[in-house]
Amino acid sequence: MLKNLGLLSLLPLFTASTQGVSIAATRDFPLGSEVENIVLRPCGSALTVVGTFPGVYEVEPKANATPRLIHDFNNTQGAHGTPSITASPLYPDVFFVITGFFNFSDFTPEANSYAIHRLSFDEHGQPIVKELARLDAIRQPNGMIAVPDSPFVLIADTLGGFIYRFNTETNELSQYFDDALLKAPDLGTHVFFGINGLKLSRGYLYFSNTNQQLMARIPASGLEMPSLTGTQAPEVITRKTACDDFIVNPSNGDLYIAEQGFGNATVNGVGFVPGDKYGNSTAPVTIAGGPNSTALLGPTAVIWAEGKVGKTLLVTTTGGFTQFVTGNYTGGGTVSIVDLDH
Ligand SMILES: *[C@@H]1O[C@H](CO)[C@@H](O)[C@H](O)[C@H]1NC(C)=O
Ligand SMILES: *[C@@H]1O[C@H](CO)[C@@H](O)[C@H](O)[C@H]1NC(C)=O
Ligand SMILES: *[C@@H]1O[C@H](CO)[C@@H](O)[C@H](O)[C@H]1NC(C)=O
Ligand SMILES: *[C@@H]1O[C@H](CO)[C@@H](O)[C@H](O)[C@H]1NC(C)=O
Ligand SMILES: *[C@@H]1O[C@H](CO)[C@@H](O)[C@H](O)[C@H]1NC(C)=O
Repeated sequence: MLKNLGLLSLLPLFTASTQGVSIAATRDFPLGSEVENIVLRPCGSALTVVGTFPGVYEVEPKANATPRLIHDFNNTQGAHGTPSITASPLYPDVFFVITGFFNFSDFTPEANSYAIHRLSFDEHGQPIVKELARLDAIRQPNGMIAVPDSPFVLIADTLGGFIYRFNTETNELSQYFDDALLKAPDLGTHVFFGINGLKLSRGYLYFSNTNQQLMARIPASGLEMPSLTGTQAPEVITRKTACDDFIVNPSNGDLYIAEQGFGNATVNGVGFVPGDKYGNSTAPVTIAGGPNSTALLGPTAVIWAEGKVGKTLLVTTTGGFTQFVTGNYTGGGTVSIVDLDH
């Protein structure tokens, strides 16, 4: 009953915001590329990383732009894939990248394969990459975000069900947050994804949990010492979401969630939760793509395009994740450009 009421109250907004959404995409990344994470350079071009290849790509977030491999981690220990990238909280055009090995055949991370690297650019625009530290304490790093005006980045451990904090100046790694809402329950699928995306916005730490199919938030700055654990209980803000990563509109709290799903539960869309409709019984509504659509095949992450907060989303896709797992690829991944007010 409550669930139905929650959904009904969303319907008018849903109708208003779906009319007019337009979707374009870059050219495909190489076949089998599970484009996983994305961040903007100050010039507005996007750096993306791929879970299935150890590469960092740069692409203009425009229709038909061609992704360019700018750094290859092929000769780096354990680097079969690059699950995460974030901008430095302190230095412009400097990034942190996580490499490691997640085996997409049996959905298992290889222990002790993960490391964090610093990526900057020289005066000729060539990337300079330096390994900072191994991340052996983290069972499967997933999302990563910078804590503003600090040396810290926060890293989600999707398998362990923790958030870690890494000091990019001292290379110190510590556990920042432990909570039941970060854990990956056993769904009988042998696939364990707990906390997946995380963002700091509006005085809160927001996070998604894939196996629990929910998103939650807790008041946080990222600077709590020694950790955030036990300060308050997180608040569930949406359920019934096939969530991967997501973005928050900082002005009104609206959530845009990359929803992928799996098997029959395939969503292949962007889920929307208005900032004034958070709740334990609120479910997102699909505003772009959808189960019977090929417009967004396997959305993994969402950010705002340069200067377009509230207007244009950049969505990374796998090119068809279910198909990727079965070996039947529909295409390479993309960066898709979703105009909300077209
Ligand atoms: C890494 O090496 C493999 C095998 O040699 C190659 O196919 C691939 O293109 C290389 N680069 C990346 C980013 O995967
Ligand atoms: C990945 O997992 C599959 C299935 O368990 C296994 O056959 C394969 O050897 C693994 N790949 C690597 C590189 O460990
Ligand atoms: C998928 O659909 C089949 C056939 O309808 C059903 O047996 C199965 O339980 C469904 N799986 C999931 C995960 O919903
Ligand atoms: C997708 O298509 C199937 C088969 O035509 C239909 O039963 C189902 O309702 C559709 N789902 C959505 C969300 O439109
Ligand atoms: C891949 O697709 C082909 C043709 O549709 C189908 O026959 C085959 O069973 C699929 N393979 C898998 C592993 O799903």
